[in-house]
Amino acid sequence: MRRLALSLIALVTLLPVARAQSKPMLAATPPMGWNSWNWFAGKVTQEDVKQAADLIVSSGMRDAGYVYVNIDDTWEGKRDASGVLHTNEKFPDMKGLADYVHSKGLKLGIYSGPGDQTCAHYEASLGHEQQDADLYASWGIDYLKYDLCGFRTKMNADAPNDKLKQNAMMRDAYMKMHDALVKTGRPIVYSLCQYGFDSVWQWGAEVGGNLWRTTDDVKENFPSIALIANSNVGLGKYAGPGHWNDPDMLEVGNGKLTLDENRTHMGMWAMLAAPLLAGNNLTKLTSEITGVLTNREVIAIDQDSLGRQAERVYQEGPVQIWSRPLADGGRALAIINFGEDTTFLRGIPLHLKEAGVTTGMKARDVWAAKDLGAIKDDYKVVLRRHEMLLLRFSK
Ligand code: GLA
Repeated sequence: MRRLALSLIALVTLLPVARAQSKPMLAATPPMGWNSWNWFAGKVTQEDVKQAADLIVSSGMRDAGYVYVNIDDTWEGKRDASGVLHTNEKFPDMKGLADYVHSKGLKLGIYSGPGDQTCAHYEASLGHEQQDADLYASWGIDYLKYDLCGFRTKMNADAPNDKLKQNAMMRDAYMKMHDALVKTGRPIVYSLCQYGFDSVWQWGAEVGGNLWRTTDDVKENFPSIALIANSNVGLGKYAGPGHWNDPDMLEVGNGKLTLDENRTHMGMWAMLAAPLLAGNNLTKLTSEITGVLTNREVIAIDQDSLGRQAERVYQEGPVQIWSRPLADGGRALAIINFGEDTTFLRGIPLHLKEAGVTTGMKARDVWAAKDLGAIKDDYKVVLRRHEMLLLRFSK
């Protein structure tokens, strides 16, 4: 009898676990992949996306964790008499594209918005949320970026000069698409894109967001990257498994970024537990850029299962120190020179205690792939302009 009671208790306690196991958490670590916007913008075609999928595989990016192939704005066509949205001539066969991407072991993402138009003035989802979500699910879409843009016109028209009401409208609109996605029964990562309005990090998870943009669009230059990194100070407490701050897609390999700048960008995004969505031209991948994007140790920091985003623990002039705790009890520490000159951190301690590094921990220089042993506060750091020293401390 006692044994029966115990088994019943075990069954009841294990049921929720079994249920949770049958539905794995979406975006348990920050999503990784590639997005068409930063390089192709409005010119992207179905062939470009297919080719991107091929290159993600052949470059080794897929095996490093880049899984989502995301089509951004400008794939949309017109709605027919029943309101069903069609693709435009650049994307003749979305279902075929999804099948192709899936056959490579990758996932396909798409883009829309809560307004009547997207940012690039294509058809968006206002009034057709469930219809669109069902359409995505029927194609086999795995990720949706939902961009506010056109909805701002509606907010201004429906609630002129009423910020509170506008914010409520915005939250409802995001919730509506979340509900529609859930109803499809297909796991679709939900990416909110509204540039950080109304402190989205405070409510993004409540409306079902797996990630939310914290700032305006990233640009392919270092000041933009530095500005975005600094705009994420203090947001760490809002991120965690299933719901992430999104400092926008990567510009690694774009524009005239130097190797130091590309590494600082990638390393900073890893510290921020940011979604890693490459945004470069994969047909022109150099070994240097592939090396930055696929550095396993940097990716391991980004994808750390604890999911704790870094916070800034120290700043002196252009030099900043950021720290993030890791699942193995260790720490990742980034020391960044955001300034224009080579900086000698002579006399500036590493502030290891404030950064959560305990005595006895051993350091590894991640970009240099070099063990440094048990370094102390007086460890001499010389950083070139825009360079980052990325340290991983382990017990
Ligand atoms: C906004 C977004 C970008 C991109 C474009 C597409 O600017 O922030 O990331 O999606 O729209 O039109």
